[in-house]
Amino acid sequence: MENIKRIELRELFSEGVAEGLIGKEICVKGWVKTKRGNKNVSFIALNDGGCNQNLQVVAEASAFNEELIKRITTGACLRVNGELVASQGKGQSFEVLAKEIEIYGEADVNTYPLQKKGHSLEFLRDIAHLRPRTNTFSAVFRVRHAMAYAIHKYFNDRGFFYWHSPLITASDCEGAGEMFQVTTLDLENLPRNEEGKIDYSQDFYGKHTSLTVSGQLEGELGAMSLGKIYTFGPTFRAENSNTPRHLSEFWMIEPEMAFFEIEDNMDLAEDFIKYLVRYALENCKGDLDFLSQMYDNELLERLRFVVDNNFVRLTYTEAIEILSQAKQKFEFPIHWGVDLQSEHERYLVEKHFKSPVILTDYPKEIKAFYMKQNEDGKTVRGMDVLFPLIGEIIGGSQREENMDKLLARMAEVGIEAKDMDWYLDTRRFGSAPHSGFGLGFERLLLFVTGMSNIRDVIPFPRFPKNANY
Ligand code: 4AD
Ligand code: MG
Repeated sequence: MENIKRIELRELFSEGVAEGLIGKEICVKGWVKTKRGNKNVSFIALNDGGCNQNLQVVAEASAFNEELIKRITTGACLRVNGELVASQGKGQSFEVLAKEIEIYGEADVNTYPLQKKGHSLEFLRDIAHLRPRTNTFSAVFRVRHAMAYAIHKYFNDRGFFYWHSPLITASDCEGAGEMFQVTTLDLENLPRNEEGKIDYSQDFYGKHTSLTVSGQLEGELGAMSLGKIYTFGPTFRAENSNTPRHLSEFWMIEPEMAFFEIEDNMDLAEDFIKYLVRYALENCKGDLDFLSQMYDNELLERLRFVVDNNFVRLTYTEAIEILSQAKQKFEFPIHWGVDLQSEHERYLVEKHFKSPVILTDYPKEIKAFYMKQNEDGKTVRGMDVLFPLIGEIIGGSQREENMDKLLARMAEVGIEAKDMDWYLDTRRFGSAPHSGFGLGFERLLLFVTGMSNIRDVIPFPRFPKNANY
């Protein structure tokens, strides 16, 4: 058969394309999802990963060697040439009548783990290297891609610059001490100084360094020169949280804007999330329909709700009042000054307001050193965006631009000014009001895909006691 250019299934399943190819020879390539049939004919569902639709390949026994048909099993990879025809069967409007089949790679029935339909998500987590072949995970990772693209598009269209903060750093942005150390020192034979402490001057960078927990501090330098920037990269936290909402390596989007005050920051955060959710509804329809049918039939309704309604905005102090009057008993007791736990956040969002919420003006003791201090001396201009089923999806603030106040706060929490001299230069020279926030990419994906475990929305999750692949 003459060489025909392969058509990708994404294109074949696009509006109007297949209709124009009926009666023509096509070439398709992909992996076998299922094979069924009888001694006269086999029906092979083929998928190439580019979309969630399978193409039905019809292989008549009379046209093929019996041995070849036997070797076509779930997971095998094929090239198929044949005629695109209108389908007589239910479930598809067209199919390909195979004329030539080449098996690129077989998949042994006894050892290929993705055999029967409906494996549990737990089972698939243990074979994370193969799970993108499943309908569920290919859908999730296509949505992940679409969201990454939409993030760049959103900011690019609005005059933000993509800014690369370093991944290896000597500063602890959030001050929570949850950093992974980076060193080339010989751990079996550590150099010591006169005081007997580890001598980091002999380390690769000549000082103690770690993987970043946030690109914000360097992002502020970008905003104070280019005006509006955003980072979008991996961040690392060595917190020992084995929860469905924490990863030790996750991706964060951190816009930072000169001349934005807290209200502007909230407006941007709300507009940004709504844009992303709307983008998913408009561009990931096939995958979202599939995920909602499989896991969560309220998914699309929840997504539309976010797009169509304003987020509720209130202060931490107002939230504490609501929570202390709640009938529900909380595991962690509530009073002014405590950090809100996931149970509190979810009560506000899911029970009380039944809407996404933006909380502002937190006690300064529970927030990072860089947040702008309010006149009351007790609270700071921080903002958290809280979402149904997720809890905190965004954390951000207006930044303290006043040098003296910033220095005083750093002294209170024990951050050495001399180590942060480069950061303080933004306040020393041409300081300005500015704000920013961080959106957890995987938390956004949990919301958009309706998956319930954060380990299922990143290809190779990193969490305590797991760094496979
Ligand atoms: O609230 P966080 O710690 O804020 C910051 O890091 C600020 N420097 C951001 C800024 O203002 N530029 O983290 C921001 C978001 C959280 O709201 C959450 O969505 C996500 O990052 N996040 C995590 N996601 C997955 N696993 C973890 N362990 C996470 N920790 C935070
Ligand atoms: Mg936070």
